[in-house]
Amino acid sequence: MDMGRNGLFSRISFCFVFTFMINTCAGFVLKDCRISRGAAICSASKLTAVPRDIPATVKSFDLAVNKISKIRADDFTNYTLLLQLDMKRNIISQIGKGAFANLRSLQKLNLNNNRLPHLEEDVFHGLSNLTELRITSNYIKTVDSNAFKPLRNLNILDLSFNRLQHLRTVHYVIQHLPNLQFLFVKKIGLTIFRSWELTNSTLSLAYLDLSQNDIDVFSISANIFQNLTWLNIGGAPRKHKMLWKVSEEKALRRVTTLDIGGHHLAQKDATVLFQSFNFSLSTLRMNAMRGNLRELINMSCTIPTLTLLQLRRNSLRLVNSSLFQPCTTVTELDLGDNLIFNISNDSFVVFLGLKSLTLSQNRLSFVPPAVRNLTRLQELDLSSNNISSLGCQDFAELGKLQVLGLYQNKIRTIKQCVFKDLTNLRVLKLQANQITKLNSAFKRYLSNLRQLKLDKNRLTTIEQGEFEGLRSLQNLSMMNNQISQLKIGCFLGLTNLTDILLQSNEIQATDITAAVFSDLVNLRRLFLLDNRIKFKNHSVLPSAPFSRLSRLEALVMAGQHSRGRCQFPVNFLQGLTNLLIFDARNTQLFPLHQDTFTYTPRLQTLDISSNELTDISPRLFDPIQNLRSLYISRTSLQSLDFLKDTNLTNLEFLQARRNQYSVITKEQMSSLPGLVYLDLQGNSFLCDCDNTWFLQWMNKTETQVFDAYNFVCNYPLHLKGMKLLDLDVGSCSIDIEFILYTSTSCAILLFQLVAFTYHFLRWHLAYAYHLFLAFLNERKYQDKQPECLYDAFVSYNAHDEGWVFRELVPKLEEQQGWKLCLHHRDFEPGKPVIENVTEAIYASRKTICVISRKYLESEWCSREIQLASFRLFDEHKDVLILVFLEDLDVWELSPYYRMRKLLKKWTFLSWPKAAPCPDLFWEKLRQALKTGDEAGGELLLLTVEERDA
Ligand SMILES: *[C@@H]1O[C@H](CO)[C@@H](O)[C@H](O)[C@H]1NC(C)=O
Ligand SMILES: *[C@@H]1O[C@H](CO)[C@@H](O)[C@H](O)[C@H]1NC(C)=O
Ligand SMILES: *[C@@H]1O[C@H](CO)[C@@H](O)[C@H](O)[C@H]1NC(C)=O
Ligand SMILES: *[C@@H]1O[C@H](CO)[C@@H](O)[C@H](O)[C@H]1NC(C)=O
Ligand SMILES: *[C@@H]1O[C@H](CO)[C@@H](O)[C@H](O)[C@H]1NC(C)=O
Repeated sequence: MDMGRNGLFSRISFCFVFTFMINTCAGFVLKDCRISRGAAICSASKLTAVPRDIPATVKSFDLAVNKISKIRADDFTNYTLLLQLDMKRNIISQIGKGAFANLRSLQKLNLNNNRLPHLEEDVFHGLSNLTELRITSNYIKTVDSNAFKPLRNLNILDLSFNRLQHLRTVHYVIQHLPNLQFLFVKKIGLTIFRSWELTNSTLSLAYLDLSQNDIDVFSISANIFQNLTWLNIGGAPRKHKMLWKVSEEKALRRVTTLDIGGHHLAQKDATVLFQSFNFSLSTLRMNAMRGNLRELINMSCTIPTLTLLQLRRNSLRLVNSSLFQPCTTVTELDLGDNLIFNISNDSFVVFLGLKSLTLSQNRLSFVPPAVRNLTRLQELDLSSNNISSLGCQDFAELGKLQVLGLYQNKIRTIKQCVFKDLTNLRVLKLQANQITKLNSAFKRYLSNLRQLKLDKNRLTTIEQGEFEGLRSLQNLSMMNNQISQLKIGCFLGLTNLTDILLQSNEIQATDITAAVFSDLVNLRRLFLLDNRIKFKNHSVLPSAPFSRLSRLEALVMAGQHSRGRCQFPVNFLQGLTNLLIFDARNTQLFPLHQDTFTYTPRLQTLDISSNELTDISPRLFDPIQNLRSLYISRTSLQSLDFLKDTNLTNLEFLQARRNQYSVITKEQMSSLPGLVYLDLQGNSFLCDCDNTWFLQWMNKTETQVFDAYNFVCNYPLHLKGMKLLDLDVGSCSIDIEFILYTSTSCAILLFQLVAFTYHFLRWHLAYAYHLFLAFLNERKYQDKQPECLYDAFVSYNAHDEGWVFRELVPKLEEQQGWKLCLHHRDFEPGKPVIENVTEAIYASRKTICVISRKYLESEWCSREIQLASFRLFDEHKDVLILVFLEDLDVWELSPYYRMRKLLKKWTFLSWPKAAPCPDLFWEKLRQALKTGDEAGGELLLLTVEERDA
């Protein structure tokens, strides 16, 4: 006989628990952050200070996007191993003295978008290993001359968007940085650049960004930039002309890339300027120029080393041959973002060796015939124009072309012959057009194509053999079309395809057949999310749809948008022997058949979140013992009990947000010995001793419990909203230990006695016991004849609390208006439970017992039945209403069998049987509550189901 000790004690202590706050946890529960692969991630958490609970072993610390206003001197004292610290987008205006002093290993520090006004002398003290520092978009106006001294190893420095204004301040910054190679000082209000103000010695700089400064005078008088290869003095369009003075002839001789965008150069200044770069310049960006562009192009193209010319945002409308006359060395020409609508046929004749031409974001309405002269072209970008049709000769001479961009045009149809000459094409981008039919354009040509993008078009049907010519294709993407039909054999010939993206179409379950997919023998990733794939039941499909995709690694089917429930056929995944990832999030999946994964032994990641699963069979996981990550958020699961019978030794990551778990037990977690990360955000926890183990575990486990600080109590009602971690469970365990300790010997004796008596005299005893109780109660209660305080006392097990509070209480109290007595709510704290129960039963007209297996297992609850039935016995009043939450077999009721024999009539109501018609159920219950106290009689007529005693 189960003594029900734990249950009883936990319920007793339940009455005097929850008083004060505990838990300043030393365990692995982080308040606002999570740890992932050695990185502490606390971004976007509304933090106002650096958290103190992050382990000192982390390598990376992300505090971006918070509300931290001050870095305190001791915020980072422990992080001697930290490599990266990101504090961008806070409101930091102050850094405590020596705050970074212990960050000896730090390599990257980001303080972008804060409010620092000044950098003090020892602000970077200790950062000797720092290589990258970013402090853009602050209010920095002044810098102490020694502030940057500790940063001996700094390689990259970004001070853009501050208010430095004077080159002298930049001098303070760089004078101590012998290894600085990349310096970004965009938009710092600089108007004059004189090299001697910056330094008189040689700099190690390779990369200097001075863009978006309104520089009026640019003068270099000494050979300080001996290593400079990249220089940007361009930026927003400017009104003034820049004075260009470079007296040291070879000062910029190593520069290969120059940006002078937005400048307005007088002809003589331009001449001097281009002369300064007449050594190794290969890339010239002249975007949004003021003044005579033709002149600038002519001058710059005399630089013999020039190969890349970028001329964006210059409002060019027409292009003809004279524009680029001297540009014979150029191999890459970028004319994007202009207003070009006409390109005369001989425009590109001069570009003997042009390899890349960008004409995107213009106003072309057809492919300019001029490109046909570019026989060496490898990349052509015609995206974002107004091209509505393609001709058969458009790409006639472009046999060397490898990448063709035609996205964001108005192409409606493509003729079969369009791509016939593009024998070397590797990548074809046709997204965001209005293509409705493929017209066999890919049936014979493009045998070297690797990537084809057809997203955002108007395709509806993919015909048989439509891609037959694309023998080398690896990636095919057709997202966001209206594909509703995949004809048999539509992927014929795509034997080298590894990735296919078919999301956001209208594909239905009938399209998912073996005949459609069997050609994709090399497929690794199949994306079918956001379609209309729904199977009605688990029945075996005549042929498994993916049976030949034995190399498939990821199958993503999330978010099917047609109405109605989906049940994957048992053999849906047959053949996917190498599947690693299966994502069936939000597919309105109804129970998964327990054999679903028998075909996918290597599965590592399973996402079945956002489905109405309510129940998962532990057997589901038997074939997939390699599972590493499991996502079961928003699945209406009542508990994690299914884990008890699984053997997921390899599971590292479990995300189970927004379910209805109230209790997490040792048994559930012990089946996941390798768990590293547990995410239970948004569950509703039971705050009583039942969760003692969970609370203690969270404090000592190696597993990271995400967001544990925000777990809140949902039951019992008077603790609703309290933080779970604030629950004091000290009394739960102390009580049990103490009582166990002092009563062990008594218990043994008692047990023997009880066993003896139980065996020989049990029913006599029970009867005597109840008579005795009756006697006591009669005296205690009958004399007083108390008025009934409640309409009914509800007796239930904690596990069924969810149903009671979700269904029963709202129905009976709020809709039918009965007054109920619930032990969590209405019991007097401090009083012995037995007294509370007896009082409750006698103070209520009826007793409703909510019966489930758990209820019957709990000795305590069944005592409530006994007490109530004794009242019938005693007072000749039928007070008992039994509500069965589960279908129970007769043998499960056997302990009560004899008791039932003592009684004549009981009222039974069955919730599962009433499921088709819950209203009838509630009506019967209402009538049962309404009837008088006489035993038997008309009560029988009310029963939904009657059991024979
Ligand atoms: C600093 O960097 C050097 C070279 O990368 C490395 O050898 C040294 O261990 C680093 N110092 C610390 C304290 O991490
Ligand atoms: C460079 O030399 C000039 C003239 O000698 C001097 O005025 C200037 O301050 C020096 N620049 C720096 C950064 O020391
Ligand atoms: C340029 O292309 C046009 C049209 O294809 C052709 O007639 C002309 O001969 C080509 N010119 C050169 C120099 O290749
Ligand atoms: C298909 O891929 C294999 C392996 O990558 C390669 O050897 C073969 O040449 C490819 N077939 C075609 C037609 O490109
Ligand atoms: C669970 O799996 C481990 C290793 O995979 C095995 O040793 C153990 O016997 C399994 N336990 C059960 C109950 O199946």
